[in-house]
Amino acid sequence: MPSDLRLTKSELYIGLMSGTSLDGADAVLVDFSSAPRVLGHYHAPYEDSLKRLLLNLSSERQVDILELGQAGIRLSQHYATVCLRLLEQAEVSPSSVAAIGYHGQTVRHCPELEQPFSLQLGEPSTLVELTGITTVAQFRQRDIAAGGQGAPLVPPFHQFMFSTSQESRIVLNLGGIANITWLPRDRSSLSGFDTGPANLLIDGWCQRFAHCSFDRNGDLARQGKVIPPLLEELQAHPYFKMAPPKSTGRETFHLGWALDKIQELGLAPEEPDILTTLTELTAWSVADAIKGQHYPLDTLILCGGGAYNQYLRERIAAHLPQVRVCSSEEFGLLPDQVEAVAFAWLARQTLTGQPGNHPQVTGAKGPRRLGAIYPA
Ligand SMILES: Nc1ncnc2c1ncn2[C@@H]1O[C@H](COP(=O)(O)OP(=O)(O)O)[C@@H](O)[C@H]1O
Ligand SMILES: [Mg+2]
Repeated sequence: MPSDLRLTKSELYIGLMSGTSLDGADAVLVDFSSAPRVLGHYHAPYEDSLKRLLLNLSSERQVDILELGQAGIRLSQHYATVCLRLLEQAEVSPSSVAAIGYHGQTVRHCPELEQPFSLQLGEPSTLVELTGITTVAQFRQRDIAAGGQGAPLVPPFHQFMFSTSQESRIVLNLGGIANITWLPRDRSSLSGFDTGPANLLIDGWCQRFAHCSFDRNGDLARQGKVIPPLLEELQAHPYFKMAPPKSTGRETFHLGWALDKIQELGLAPEEPDILTTLTELTAWSVADAIKGQHYPLDTLILCGGGAYNQYLRERIAAHLPQVRVCSSEEFGLLPDQVEAVAFAWLARQTLTGQPGNHPQVTGAKGPRRLGAIYPA
């Protein structure tokens, strides 16, 4: 073990993230003793059967409660293996880690119901038992209890990591859902919200019609043409016109919604132009959300798996010609690590007695210490 790790023992955190894409678990080991430094990153895709189960639990109106309970345990077992592999790779012992920030797998996000809730599966006790590491989990619930959306939770981390007095920036996370964080150069305020779909319609189409799990680099979408009447139908979704604070998920944007529109227009769903149109919907909706807020903006920083979709990136840049578009890598974090590092940071906020949410972003009554601590 490198000697500096022993000295910074209490500043080592693991962040565990898996978003709406259901692409699997991202685990990062981060040293917060100075500017955050990623010491290890491990990505473990979900097995097909687990992915199918989670997709059902996320989208079916009625679910089997036994399946739900068991999926939570199965997820924690998966995550525990991921943590142990990550530590093995980095040659760090579990006892050197202050805590795991465990997001869990969202299967419902319903902040607008009369009894609002957001449900993340993954039993933290199992993770603690299997890793021996203190775990902070259930981050969204406190913010919702305080009247917030429970999402997005990453903007305060984006501010910590990416804000500067030199220029105004937006961090755009392209996960299953897309969310933005605006970081004005005068640091006068922090705002952010979910803009709508990022990859989940693209992935859904690829899995159903192209026998691949996603559109690598956007190579398939690049070959087709946008279908204007379909794009207009999709753009008419009321979510895009709602004022923030707002957050969304698979309940609102799922392939079935797009397929209904495709059918109404008499289009063939397997037509490759559909994928080009779905990709354009993401590019347009992100750019429209940014333009609609009239934010001064110099640089747009991309993160999340969608940052690797070169075609999507080009389309976003085409909608925002005055803006410099770059990757989070320029600022020291790879795009697929940013969200997991954010949850490591959120766990640290909780353990050090600091708030994790930002009321301006989520709409909560005030700043809150987030999460529940499951001690080792
Ligand atoms: N090389 C790539 N080209 C295009 N898309 C990619 C690439 N790598 C990842 N992605 C997209 O990113 C998604 C995963 O992004 P991620 O940020 O992990 O989302 P989530 O937070 O919802 O899990 C994949 O499902 C895929 O759509
Ligand atoms: Mg992911």
